[in-house]
Amino acid sequence: ADAPLVLGIETSCDETGVGLVRGTELLADAVASSVDEHARFGGVVPEVASRAHLEAMVPTVERACADAGVRLADVDALAVTSGPGLMGALLVGVAAAKALALALDRPLYGVNHLAAHVAVDQLAHGPLPEPCLALLVSGGHSSLLLVPDVTEDVRPLGQTIDDAAGEAFDKVARVLGLPFPGGPYVDRAAREGDRAYVDFPRGLTSGRDLERHRYDFSFSGLKTAVARWVEQRERDGEPVPVADVAASFQEAVVDVLTRKALAACRDQGVDTLLLGGGVAANSRLRALAQERCDAAGVALRVPPPRLCTDNGAMVAALGAELAARGRTPSPLDLPADSSMPV
Ligand code: KG4
Ligand code: ZN
Repeated sequence: ADAPLVLGIETSCDETGVGLVRGTELLADAVASSVDEHARFGGVVPEVASRAHLEAMVPTVERACADAGVRLADVDALAVTSGPGLMGALLVGVAAAKALALALDRPLYGVNHLAAHVAVDQLAHGPLPEPCLALLVSGGHSSLLLVPDVTEDVRPLGQTIDDAAGEAFDKVARVLGLPFPGGPYVDRAAREGDRAYVDFPRGLTSGRDLERHRYDFSFSGLKTAVARWVEQRERDGEPVPVADVAASFQEAVVDVLTRKALAACRDQGVDTLLLGGGVAANSRLRALAQERCDAAGVALRVPPPRLCTDNGAMVAALGAELAARGRTPSPLDLPADSSMPV
């Protein structure tokens, strides 16, 4: 028989995502984003995100079904992000998924957002090699995960102790006068810049800091260093070389990310590294990760950019895997957990 048709719902941040997956086959990936509504605030406003999810939910479900050429009644199982994320935003997705599960009389799987970022790679590159290591970097998270079993055993090795990597990109973009969300603009500006123009600090990479935080990240000191550097230039009445600062900042971030990810692969004896999250779209991160993985004999898997950012297909992908491995569905009083650990 065919693998079950799984509908996945993602609402942990500012994307309303609804995906349809059968096995490891992607059938639909509908996303409505409220990013433009947050742009003038320079960051995601939780209440604005929740209201936008409420408005976009049903139309996005309908669009996913239309794109896949299926009816809601064809859906065999539901999956939804139940954490971590913004509480009000999560509640909209969880409530919608419960309503569908109840109305259609189908099983519901509550899933962890970070595990879903890992599972999504199956839609691009087929069954996940386990164990693998995952580096998830976005506006909301920066985590290094050891993944023996994506459906029930995902272990956090390290994470940011202050700002997320994407947050640092967005804040530095603002300092450089680039639009929000700044990651793609910094990436583009950096292409014309000198990566060695300023030697910005690499957080938690030496001495006691490294010993105590082998797999953790810190980007707040870097962000401050960039801001101070730019302020000094302005005080001196000198023009700010935007491309060079962007390239130097970006190099500091991706150097630390890839260095720590490959150290973890080596320490843990894992030979597959997976990237995910919005920052995985960064061209320099992809290039340096490839270079360092090749040198270390580690296979690199990076989903296409559209699947790296938050979407419903990743939730459906993990739901499909939970169903395939016969895991127990969630009860219909499933809570949302904004600070859910992996
Ligand atoms: O995964 P995502 O869409 O949403 C969450 O934050 O969960 O990630 C968005 C983040 C933003 O901080 C954005 O600036 C960053 O990913 N980003 C990038 C690039 N594209 C998106 N950062 C660096 N380089 C990029 N090309
Ligand atoms: Zn995410």
